[in-house]
Amino acid sequence: MYKCLVCETEFDSFMTFGKMPIANGFLTSEDFKNEFFYELEIGACPNCSMVQLVRQPEREMMFHEDYAFFSSTSEKQRVHFKTLSDEILDLINANDPFVVEIGCNDGIMLEHISKKQIRHLGIEPSTNVAEVAADKGVNTISEFFDYELAKKIKDEYGNASVISASNVMCHIPYLDSVVKGVKELIGDSGVFIFEDPYLIDILEKTSYDQIYDEHVFYFSITSLAKMFDKYDLEIFDVKRINVHGGSMRYYVAQKDTKHVSVDVEKMSEVEKYNEVDKLSTYQNLKTKIERSKEELNNIIRKIKTDGKRIVGYGATSKSTTITNFCGIGPDEIDFISDTTPIKQDKYSPGTHIPVKRYEEFKECYPDYALLFAWNHAEEIMAKEEEFTKAGGKWIMYVPNIEVIDDIL
Ligand code: SAH
Ligand code: TMP
Ligand code: ZN
Repeated sequence: MYKCLVCETEFDSFMTFGKMPIANGFLTSEDFKNEFFYELEIGACPNCSMVQLVRQPEREMMFHEDYAFFSSTSEKQRVHFKTLSDEILDLINANDPFVVEIGCNDGIMLEHISKKQIRHLGIEPSTNVAEVAADKGVNTISEFFDYELAKKIKDEYGNASVISASNVMCHIPYLDSVVKGVKELIGDSGVFIFEDPYLIDILEKTSYDQIYDEHVFYFSITSLAKMFDKYDLEIFDVKRINVHGGSMRYYVAQKDTKHVSVDVEKMSEVEKYNEVDKLSTYQNLKTKIERSKEELNNIIRKIKTDGKRIVGYGATSKSTTITNFCGIGPDEIDFISDTTPIKQDKYSPGTHIPVKRYEEFKECYPDYALLFAWNHAEEIMAKEEEFTKAGGKWIMYVPNIEVIDDIL
């Protein structure tokens, strides 16, 4: 039995994925012998419906001076966060607004706020990405956000007009401290905007590669509304967004201070219809995940029997779950191509598939590309017409296992 990180109710996990390394822990061959592994296991709380990992590596093992995820590597993400910054700029009507971002990474969002000379603060514990943000003119501190830090920020800067947190709330197991900190910092009238991969998308697409160490929570409105209620906070709007394979953006304020949009009710109904509060939903998910693994392995086995070459496209953190869970290694995949310099000339976590520069993919096309960065399919497809024209095929595994000529 495990204890819910939110409400402390005891529950059993519904699935274990076996031993997993750090999802973003790309490594050199010298590091193989010291590689850290833990058991990746997930459950759903029968009381508050929060879907969660039952254990997570120490935060310092994931977020540090060599953090491998740089937000700005995708054009789509750059556009997405420019749009979010515009929305925030429209929202702030205070005299001297103050915008805080938790997990600002390389400044992909805050750089636009900074350019407008608006008081702001980015909180980013991974110092390498924080330095990139600082170089862009973003006021950054390298710390982990929690209640204590929120109080310090409030003392120094006053209340935040907006706190933004993208793809980071779901990373933090000490949610109680974070939510208390947010509540303290937004004061009476500030707004908290956060977004994370959405549970309904994971269920609909069987996108189980979202399940890895950094993602300790798989949020729904159902679970979050209950949680915020305890702090007299309220979700007053939601927006489904098409990033990271399907996410939800939540707008939160002090209870009864904002008009609650009909979309909150509508999406809660969708969640009820999808039975996010029933254990059977997760047992079904487990069955689908096991089927997906088997089908992917069958396809890969057949391709290898035919003597063809496969290259992975995008050394995503998500691919760590797929390769380790499905047992896909360098015998199946020659290398994974990725545009992020810090990942290149290293090996994939756990399975030790070489990660190479994108040019190596371009210079010698494989027969098949296994699309690990499926959430960037449109952007990649636009770039890879030549590969497709040359007869290259894409192996997809979300939402279904397919081999196709054209991604879209
Ligand atoms: N917001 C960016 C980055 C998401 S990755 C985007 O959406 O693309 C998550 C980031 O949160 C990482 O850069 C990580 O270092 C940071 N992070 C992790 N725990 C944190 C915490 N407690 N407080 C602030 N940032 C944190
Ligand atoms: P993400 O799915 O977590 O956003 O990670 C995407 C990874 O894929 C990141 O390491 C960058 C890489 N990538 C490419 O190699 N080529 C591309 O065209 C895109 C969009 C991403
Ligand atoms: Zn619970």
